[in-house]
Amino acid sequence: MKKQLRYLSHEDILSMNVSFETVIEVVEKVLTEHSEGFYVNPPKPAIHPDPISFFHAMPGYLPRIHAAGVKWVSGFSANAAKGLPGITGLTILNDDKEGFPTAVLDCAWTTGIRTGAVSAAAAKRLAPKNAKVFTIIGTGIQGRVHAANFQKAIPTLDTVKVFDVNPKMVESFTQYVKERTNLNVINEPTAEAAIRDSDIVITCTGKITEPIFDRNWVKKGALVMPVHTSGWTKDYPFKADKFIVDDWGQFFHSNVEAGGYYSKLPDPYAQLGEIISGKKPGRENDDETILDHNYGLAIHDIALCQRLIKIAEEKNIGTVLTYMDTDKNIV
Ligand SMILES: NC(=O)c1ccc[n+]([C@@H]2O[C@H](COP(=O)([O-])OP(=O)(O)OC[C@H]3O[C@@H](n4cnc5c(N)ncnc54)[C@H](O)[C@@H]3O)[C@@H](O)[C@H]2O)c1
Repeated sequence: MKKQLRYLSHEDILSMNVSFETVIEVVEKVLTEHSEGFYVNPPKPAIHPDPISFFHAMPGYLPRIHAAGVKWVSGFSANAAKGLPGITGLTILNDDKEGFPTAVLDCAWTTGIRTGAVSAAAAKRLAPKNAKVFTIIGTGIQGRVHAANFQKAIPTLDTVKVFDVNPKMVESFTQYVKERTNLNVINEPTAEAAIRDSDIVITCTGKITEPIFDRNWVKKGALVMPVHTSGWTKDYPFKADKFIVDDWGQFFHSNVEAGGYYSKLPDPYAQLGEIISGKKPGRENDDETILDHNYGLAIHDIALCQRLIKIAEEKNIGTVLTYMDTDKNIV
């Protein structure tokens, strides 16, 4: 029997016009599966060719929706200055009955969008009431995704304050965001100016070794979401009223990976899925300062890729490749 797989390039995926709302729906379902324990998401092992670059292997499995696979993703933070995407790679999906690979997809789009969608799903439950101003530190792909889509989760937002070390990135970010939203975009001269008085702070710089902000700049009652690691002063998780992570096991492992960034680990208030599924309350009052760090779960990638492949099959998008003829001897 001929075993086939579908390949979706970045261009194929863009042509599908999958909405941000659809991706929020996928990640909320995944987080609910996570909170109910129906998932396998081992911490990502990494290779570092240099201190600001990585390759991560991200396997994941959601048994109730039969989604299994692995994302092999690169993060090269120096690429942004060359006008190249920093996050690139491929996701492989597998059939969970016989194990055969069923699909290979570009992972730049899925990583970009699902990360913003997880933040948006979290912000719906954790942002202060009537939030108007949000901050983006690092105006690359994550900065764009978050800024261009956050009003879909928090419609009261009217202003985004931004800071990036690269003025060219801010310029193209501003054009991108203005074409897609009615937000007032304010380019600030420092991270501190961008963070002070903001209702929601999102830091999405490339990999940096020093914290990009001091917790004392954050307004009481704000929601802070570092999309990358090491973006905060080390005492912050201990001082926030609620410290939330997407997956405690992976957060624990990421501390080991970072060479023991924390000498003592903070106790999280919750894993994000517990809040999405209603097992624990999200924001409970206007004074709570909440820190939510979502380090990124393979199960989001796998579930989103499964959804993309279903759409691609219906619309006949992508390239179908024969992987193996099982009637032939393997060796
Ligand atoms: N948690 C997750 O699930 C997840 C998913 C994707 C990406 N990420 C991480 O998010 C970060 C951003 O990813 P991206 O694809 O947007 O990267 P990118 O390379 O497109 O953008 C990074 C931006 O940060 C800016 N920057 C670098 N150092 C800075 C500093 N000190 N101050 C201000 N700005 C600075 C760069 O100029 C660039 O504009 C990366 O660290 C990446 O690893 C996390």
